Amino acid sequence: MTNTNIKQNQIDTSMWRMSVAPMMDWTDKHCRYLHRLLSQHTLLYTEMVTTGALIHGDVARHLRFEAEEHPVALQLGGSEPADLAQSARLGEQWGYDEINLNCGCPSERVQRGAFGACLMNEAGLVADCVKAMVDVVQVPVTVKHRIGIDKIESYDFVRDFVGTVADAGCEVFIVHARNAWLKGLSPKENREIPPLRYELVAQLKRDFPALTIAVNGGIKTDEVALQQLEQVDGVMVGREAYHNPWWMASWDALYYQDESRQRTREAVEEQMVLYMEREAREHGTHWYSIARHMLGLRNGLAGARRWRQVWSDHRLKTLPPHEVMKLARTKPAEAVPA
Ligand SMILES: Cc1cc2nc3c(=O)[nH]c(=O)nc-3n(C[C@H](O)[C@H](O)[C@H](O)COP(=O)(O)O)c2cc1C
Repeated sequence: MTNTNIKQNQIDTSMWRMSVAPMMDWTDKHCRYLHRLLSQHTLLYTEMVTTGALIHGDVARHLRFEAEEHPVALQLGGSEPADLAQSARLGEQWGYDEINLNCGCPSERVQRGAFGACLMNEAGLVADCVKAMVDVVQVPVTVKHRIGIDKIESYDFVRDFVGTVADAGCEVFIVHARNAWLKGLSPKENREIPPLRYELVAQLKRDFPALTIAVNGGIKTDEVALQQLEQVDGVMVGREAYHNPWWMASWDALYYQDESRQRTREAVEEQMVLYMEREAREHGTHWYSIARHMLGLRNGLAGARRWRQVWSDHRLKTLPPHEVMKLARTKPAEAVPA
């Protein structure tokens, strides 16, 4: 019996049904707080935190999060098994529900550190990293990766990668369904130019039915998400959730059959203002660095542009957040010029 089989019963696959992707500079704790107000069940990922930052840096700054954020996964960047084990243990101690290893980031800075997408070339090393983490934590250790790197288009490559890493004890794979081109494309281009091939992810699920497989990349509508959920266990959404967060307000009912919470944009905004006040009081955080994540909340509604302009107006930084909310809700004719 392989390691994969032994731990299978402990994994609740539904945890990965819907998730918001790890996004550097975007999915910080403030962003996750907003997302949690919008969906109680969606799994939220941190930004990538490197093992170096955790081992040599300010641990609280990187790992602090609110109890309300659960379920929340810590994404690690690194390729040294011992460092990853130490970081995973820290993550578990701080209360994260999952430890995820980044094997999908193509940035040059990350490649120089020899981790991220270039790790897909070294499945044996990734297996060692996973094993080192699985040995020291109880929470699931998962991997986020691409379907290939550079011009490797064959399905066998990603199948062998998943097989090798699964044998080391990883039971959950989140697959960004495009290649990473390690030379010549910026990280942004690498999220747009290499073609999406969802069918390879579905094939992984057919070949490894005991594993939990979630698909990521370019998913922007319920229609596509629901289609994907017929083939794989989970859908991870990145940019669309960030730019259009109100989409998430319908996820509990649609994906988790939980209709217990009726939300309005106004109530969410008010709860964010309370959170801004608490963060300012307890941690000296300025509301401006929290408000930046909710600028898309009213997308598609009349007056959204003005609302967004008020919440992002740096001239209003001296006002307390409840005053800013009042201004944002005032119709232009009633507004007092700043
Ligand atoms: C601003 C930004 C930062 C990102 N940072 C990370 C990261 O830290 N770790 C990671 O695995 N992926 C990162 N990604 C990639 C996303 O997790 C996701 O795989 C990608 O955006 C494709 O999903 P989407 O089309 O739903 O956005 C980032 C994406 C964006 C837009």
